[in-house]
Amino acid sequence: SPTATTAERVVLTGYMGAGKSTVGRALARELGWEFCDLDHLIETTHAATIAELFTQHGEPGFRQLETRALAAALGRHNAVIALGGGALESLTNRLLLEQKPNTLTVFLDAPFEILFDRCVLQPDAAIRPVLKDPDTAAARFKARRPQYQRAAHIIVDTEPLTPAETVARLIEEL
Ligand code: S3P
Repeated sequence: SPTATTAERVVLTGYMGAGKSTVGRALARELGWEFCDLDHLIETTHAATIAELFTQHGEPGFRQLETRALAAALGRHNAVIALGGGALESLTNRLLLEQKPNTLTVFLDAPFEILFDRCVLQPDAAIRPVLKDPDTAAARFKARRPQYQRAAHIIVDTEPLTPAETVARLIEEL
């Protein structure tokens, strides 16, 4: 797997609520690298929120926009890239990531109950269309977890770490 000396980008994956954006932003600051949030990139590219894009294009349409954004993001150097929680559902996306050289992929893991609570308690809970139904959200977590694991060079059990502690752990491991 790529090491700190060869890695040109770090990709953070994991379910909604895992801390990909929070940890990613802080890690980028520590490394002196750029931070790129895939959801944010999609929103600015299309001048619409994720929720609006789901409504306008349906989930399959959103996933196509996500694939284009991922391809663009993977072109960046010295960047920490936070994926959306569903980005690795697509085989195309998994291959894009897997075949990208010098790219270190990190899976931020935590138990489903904790992730779900974190997301539902957030003020912006309504902006995550995928979370509307807890049973579906749990089923998705179960289906996605092996994909996150397979994609990752590094797995961090973030529970009960704070985002700052997770960043410190990653700095040690990179
Ligand atoms: C999704 C996760 C979201 C966002 C979209 C769909 C998912 O990203 O891409 O709402 O399918 O899990 P976060 O994991 O950053 O919330």
